[in-house]
Amino acid sequence: MCGIVSAISYRNIAFTLTEGLLRLEYRGYDSCGIALFKDGELTRVRSMKRVSDLEKQLLDCRFDGCIGLAHTRWATHGIPSKYNAHPHFSRDKFGKPTIALVHNGIIENYEELRNSLDKDSYDFESQTDTEVLAHLLNDFYDGDIFRTVLNVTKLLKGSYAIAVFCSNEPDRIIGARQGSPLIIGIGVDENYLSSDSLAISDKIKDLIYLEDGDIVELKRKSINIIDSNGSYVERYKHSVNNIIATPNLGKYRHYMQKEIFEQPRAVADTLHNVDNLSHDFFGQDYYDLFNNIDSVLIVACGTSYYAGMTAKYWIESLAKIRVDVEIASEYIYRDSVPNPNTLVLAISQSGETADTLSALKHAKSLGLKNTMAICNMNNSAIVRECSFSYITQAGIEIGVASTKAFTTQLTALFLLSITLARYRSILGKEQEVAYCRDLRHLPSAIGSVLSLEPLIMEWAKYFAHKGNSLFLGRGRHYPIALEGALKMKEVTYIHAEAYPAGELKHGPLALVSEHMPVVVVAPSDRLLEKLKSNMQEVRARGGNLYVLADKGSTISNDSGINVIHMPEYYGMISPILYTVPLQLLAYHTALILGTDIDKPRNLAKSVTVE
Ligand code: AGP
Repeated sequence: MCGIVSAISYRNIAFTLTEGLLRLEYRGYDSCGIALFKDGELTRVRSMKRVSDLEKQLLDCRFDGCIGLAHTRWATHGIPSKYNAHPHFSRDKFGKPTIALVHNGIIENYEELRNSLDKDSYDFESQTDTEVLAHLLNDFYDGDIFRTVLNVTKLLKGSYAIAVFCSNEPDRIIGARQGSPLIIGIGVDENYLSSDSLAISDKIKDLIYLEDGDIVELKRKSINIIDSNGSYVERYKHSVNNIIATPNLGKYRHYMQKEIFEQPRAVADTLHNVDNLSHDFFGQDYYDLFNNIDSVLIVACGTSYYAGMTAKYWIESLAKIRVDVEIASEYIYRDSVPNPNTLVLAISQSGETADTLSALKHAKSLGLKNTMAICNMNNSAIVRECSFSYITQAGIEIGVASTKAFTTQLTALFLLSITLARYRSILGKEQEVAYCRDLRHLPSAIGSVLSLEPLIMEWAKYFAHKGNSLFLGRGRHYPIALEGALKMKEVTYIHAEAYPAGELKHGPLALVSEHMPVVVVAPSDRLLEKLKSNMQEVRARGGNLYVLADKGSTISNDSGINVIHMPEYYGMISPILYTVPLQLLAYHTALILGTDIDKPRNLAKSVTVE
């Protein structure tokens, strides 16, 4: 999704800014741009290609500057085009640019604001909401751009993170945030604004997470922050020591592949010391929280939502607590019946997903005060919005299609399920020991599944020639079928649907023919016999089955039935293992098709707009 990198320094920062944009490429974008200020002039280059094209243009034009704003855009208002790419300018009456602006988020009342501007005074060069804001700042400009931003942001509805430069006051950049992430990076004789610490982590000593409603004045050696009440505030400075190093591909062709293979490590780190599983696994602070809840409400989107769906099976079965799982963007806008003794669980890889954040705030507004995040990014907006959090240890995930973030979310959610069961004294000692043993073996079991890659590559050759695919699962493996179908859609662009296998005969069976490959998640659990009947329904209509099963499933290769045998059945945590071959299937099918695997079309890594 959109990314901001902006800096004020004594040195030329043109390529520092583009380097920052390169690090944000993983978030997904369709155009990019940079504006620089030098010798009284604002210059700008924009591109519909990659950031490397911006760098080439900068070299060709010999543009440089000590102050600049750079941006990657993911289109919301206006098609992806060079003219809609940021930075946007507003000009003086001679046509000279005086205001430059980059923006993440959506200004919902931009049409109304646009109509409030004198039509003869401003030429609109784009279809964006952002350009309206640039002209509005110009219109309200009173000789102090800090004060102007303060006044103009009061008129805005929607979400934004902005960086603004005014050429009349070239010793400062102004930033503001409401609903979209924005951080300040503090360097030596230079300061930064960015939507993601990764963009600037090697350039700074400390960073500050701005709060909603904050406006910041950034100079080379100082920063001033005004909060939503209009008061000057100090915000906590975080040392950058804890920021994750810049990722690299190593021996892998894509980040998605690398991240799939990182799962044994990521899951092991998320488990921490599972040998010592006790009431205190999540910390003593949880005592009141876990003792006082009688239901769980999970809010999440996409893959994280499927992790939540799996958790419903676990928590209801192990801890006997009622669980509702809500798609965040739906929950916000429907009437629900709040129960104050609910644990609201927000699941998110990025911790910045606008829908999940809004759902969390909505739940709190309904009086649900017990909030916990399961998140991969410490200090993210969702973590900061919750009273409690458990940070998964996937490490930075670059591939837009989530892989290791999902299996680490599942790991954390299983730990939560057994901890809740312990709190209720309904987990027998023997059972607990068995779960801990399975969890200890989980990383190496994932390693064994990864060694099945050559077999999955054979399947991928078949899928790459199909336009559709169906994924089936039952019980706690149904969300895994959904996740498998989502992975297939995201990286191959092949239409993929997932169903609980029992639903087949209620409609989707009409899709089945010899042209439809049907993937079945078939561990030897108590629903296996039912699932086998569903598989017969597919075979009887000529559908080709691609079955993931363990030895106990007793399903063998046959005409129209292709089986990959998984390691032994892992009981409750088996969904984590069955996720891995589905990730590999999507990856290898995409590899054959030659899609942009790490940055699939139209998608963004961190979805910071509603
Ligand atoms: C997963 O492959 C997706 N790209 C997407 O569905 C993602 O899971 C969703 O946008 C939620 O993101 P989050 O976990 O960062 O909140």
